[in-house]
Amino acid sequence: MRTSPFDLSGRRALVTGSTRGIGAGIAEGLARAGAHVAVHGRDELGVKAAVNQLRNALADDGIEALVDSVVFDVTDAESMLSAVARLEQDLGGIDILVNNAGIQHRSALVDFPLHAWQEVLSANLTSCFLLARQLAPGMIIRGRGKIINICSVQNRLVRGSTSAYAAAKAGLGALGQVMCAEWAAAGIQINGLAPGYIDTDLNTALKQNPEMVDWIKSRTPAGRWGTPQDLAGPAVWLASAASDFVNGQVVFVDGGMTAVI
Ligand SMILES: NC(=O)c1ccc[n+]([C@@H]2O[C@H](COP(=O)([O-])OP(=O)(O)OC[C@H]3O[C@@H](n4cnc5c(N)ncnc54)[C@H](OP(=O)(O)O)[C@@H]3O)[C@@H](O)[C@H]2O)c1
Repeated sequence: MRTSPFDLSGRRALVTGSTRGIGAGIAEGLARAGAHVAVHGRDELGVKAAVNQLRNALADDGIEALVDSVVFDVTDAESMLSAVARLEQDLGGIDILVNNAGIQHRSALVDFPLHAWQEVLSANLTSCFLLARQLAPGMIIRGRGKIINICSVQNRLVRGSTSAYAAAKAGLGALGQVMCAEWAAAGIQINGLAPGYIDTDLNTALKQNPEMVDWIKSRTPAGRWGTPQDLAGPAVWLASAASDFVNGQVVFVDGGMTAVI
């Protein structure tokens, strides 16, 4: 029996892009809540290192969690879908999908290269459609499932130079609503988490500009950049029974950035 609505024991989770950054923070949060987590990235060595790091962090706190790994490139549909089919079979199903892997490309719209546009759309949007389409049938058979799409403050407020990223994230928010329309009655909850500015490798270029770093702090009511751990609690909530009547939403985890002008 579950003593807490946030308990994820017995639940199997795939968090894409969980070798570092926000995905690693979410994977750790889900594992601490009891889930059996599959850590994912493109590179076998990087995934192994992330799995060890996660196991050690949990062991330090006396938590025995099941941690698996899976390696694929989210822009290579064929290898992604076959790797995920194998993972689903090995784990006996996947109850929680966190569509987190993503990339950024910054360039003025008039100069934006088509190949970069396609790569951003493929990594940040098409892969989420493909993974959800692959895993939803099993969730429908079991009568339960959680899909968490990692969106962005750019679902609501955009900046110049991020056209492909902003379009992909807005598309992901809308895609989540369609998934809700089609799958909610089958017991699946699909929601977006929209992080504000989080201190990860994705923002390396921004962090090299001290004025930008300060502007983000001043533009965020909380007065600081976010950390990957800031996403863990909201992800556990959206992955757990505590959010069973929350569906088709995008929840902003941004220190208040989108609440103020
Ligand atoms: N950081 C922010 O401020 C922020 C704000 C809003 C939204 N987000 C979103 O949050 C998500 C995670 O961002 P992050 O800041 O944590 O990024 P990050 O630190 O750069 O980490 C990206 C993760 O995605 C994986 N990845 C990237 N491209 C991939 C591909 N083609 N195939 C497989 N895996 C791939 C990376 O794996 P490898 O180790 O194999 O490279 C890594 O695990 C993204 O969707 C991003 O758009 C971030």
